[in-house]
Amino acid sequence: MNRVPIGIALNGVTGRMGYRQHLVRSLLAIRDEGGLPAADGRRIWPEPILVGRNPAKLREIAERHGLTDWTTDLDGVLARDDVRIYFDAQVTQQREKAIRAAIEAGKDVYTEKPLADDTAAAVDLYRAARAAGVKHGVVQDKLFLPGLRKLRRLVEGGFFGRILSVRGEFGYWVFEGDWQAAQRPSWNYRAADGGGIVVDMFPHWQYVLERLFGPIRSVQATVATHIPSRVDESGITYEATADDAAYGTFELEGGIVAQINSSWAVRVHRDELVEFQVDGTHGSAVAGLRECRIQHRGATPKPVWNPDLPATERFREQWQLVPDNETFDNGFKVQWERYLHHVVDGTAFPWDFAAGARGVQLVELGLESARTGRRIAIPALDL
Ligand SMILES: NC(=O)c1ccc[n+]([C@@H]2O[C@H](COP(=O)([O-])OP(=O)(O)OC[C@H]3O[C@@H](n4cnc5c(N)ncnc54)[C@H](O)[C@@H]3O)[C@@H](O)[C@H]2O)c1
Repeated sequence: MNRVPIGIALNGVTGRMGYRQHLVRSLLAIRDEGGLPAADGRRIWPEPILVGRNPAKLREIAERHGLTDWTTDLDGVLARDDVRIYFDAQVTQQREKAIRAAIEAGKDVYTEKPLADDTAAAVDLYRAARAAGVKHGVVQDKLFLPGLRKLRRLVEGGFFGRILSVRGEFGYWVFEGDWQAAQRPSWNYRAADGGGIVVDMFPHWQYVLERLFGPIRSVQATVATHIPSRVDESGITYEATADDAAYGTFELEGGIVAQINSSWAVRVHRDELVEFQVDGTHGSAVAGLRECRIQHRGATPKPVWNPDLPATERFREQWQLVPDNETFDNGFKVQWERYLHHVVDGTAFPWDFAAGARGVQLVELGLESARTGRRIAIPALDL
């Protein structure tokens, strides 16, 4: 067979992200398409090995998808010669030691964000991966979403003129778990288990802001735990000790001011669960996960403030939809394809552990800002 089989140990595959986005929507989807064309004309063929703690769940997932290779023995799988890549979608706190073991075993490593619990550990993982000569990468899926790719197209095409500001609104109501089951895992709401919306979302905002608009020079954040107690998967009430909302201001190089609200205690009055409004001298855009709308300076209305009169214009209708102009695949799958090319063909992969460490740094400094009430400068990492 004209295939390049690549053994991939998938750890945390019973979880929300590991199963749905990474196994099913990415690796199995690549197999459904007959593999990924490699530079030499052969087909890169992912061979998933499901890794986790619960044999029954692993066996059930394997059988559901016609797979046979699963194990609860991480060290054993890392010792196998036919395993080339270690992938981690475990709860964040388990990540560092597993990645370290994978690097020591000489595996290429790809991981969910955040890379580690703190900046020092993330930088250390970067150094270890570089020293071992393994290929490393961190999931930065939002960059591959249709809405943000259209936004990037606008930035690169010079649509905005000089970009002034970015306003992001992310969130939805996560049920408390009492009268309706919560739609996120309970560890997300316990600080001791690595939970919190800053840890969860600031890594995303770091790479979105940096890649689309420029490096982040400072952060100021206010965080809150709006819902103090929740009910977990077993029906037990627990204290929510982690932040469930974060109100952040980020100053970017070149003077762009970005503000992003992140909340699991907000109800959606938006078109999508995340939206970014970008205002520039020549035009503005509002991008969500899928869609992107624009208003050019030439089509900008001239409202006059008069609270005595009802709104005279239908402002939302004055925006124009950006066309797709290309086919957009699942964002996680697109990044997996780039990573597999990086491993097999040696192509560039900028979403590496150094990029992941910058995401962790923004989490750490954002939380420091919230604790101290200060705006915190973001120094370049000493890699
Ligand atoms: N890229 C994204 O958009 C995105 C979205 C959500 C979560 N994530 C990240 O993905 C990771 C997993 O999040 P999730 O929402 O899928 O969580 P989840 O709770 O659904 O899954 C966690 C996985 O880790 C395993 N696990 C749990 N406790 C463990 C322990 N003590 N030791 C070993 N394994 C354990 C579970 O069995 C499960 O397989 C997190 O690091 C999170 O930050 C990324």
